[in-house]
Amino acid sequence: MRFLKMGGIAGCVVAALVAGCGGGSGDGLDANGRPLGEGEDPGGPMTASFKSIQAKVFTPVCTGCHAGGSAPAGLRLDASNSYMLLVDVDSAEVPSLKRVKPGNATNSYLIHKLEGHAAVGARMPLGGPYLDVATITLIRQWIDKGAPQ
Ligand code: HEC
Repeated sequence: MRFLKMGGIAGCVVAALVAGCGGGSGDGLDANGRPLGEGEDPGGPMTASFKSIQAKVFTPVCTGCHAGGSAPAGLRLDASNSYMLLVDVDSAEVPSLKRVKPGNATNSYLIHKLEGHAAVGARMPLGGPYLDVATITLIRQWIDKGAPQ
């Protein structure tokens, strides 16, 4: 009887390592176990990670304009192009600034556009509604920690 109980606990520990024990690892399963179409929200609060920013902001808010061959300023923000077109890439409007300068949100043109103080053009998303401060803060945090992919 005691042996069976131990086995049950051990089995639970093993199961927890693989897939969680009685819930609690739903985030990982959500993010990895379910095929996510572009624009689909993986659920849960936004975090300061590239994946989360893509899912919560770039795909749903920006790709209406920033996608395909005629994307404004040549900036495509769909999931397969956004990272390589943002990080360490010169802005088209103000080429002396990087769109995303890893470790330096304040000098990243993306942030200037989102906060509405860019030297050229309009605040993004064009025409609004604009991102709230909390959302922009998470994007700033992602850049300030080095803009990891
Ligand atoms: C309604 C269309 C539209 C939407 C939606 C939109 N943009 Fe733009 N974006 C533009 C246009 C047009 C330009 C060029 C003119 C300007 O800057 O005002 C531009 C320019 C930019 C630039 C400057 C690129 C460079 O290299 O200089 C950035 C950065 C940018 N957008 C980011 C975003 C982000 C991030 C979002 C989503 C939060 C977004 N935009 C949503 C139309 C849009």
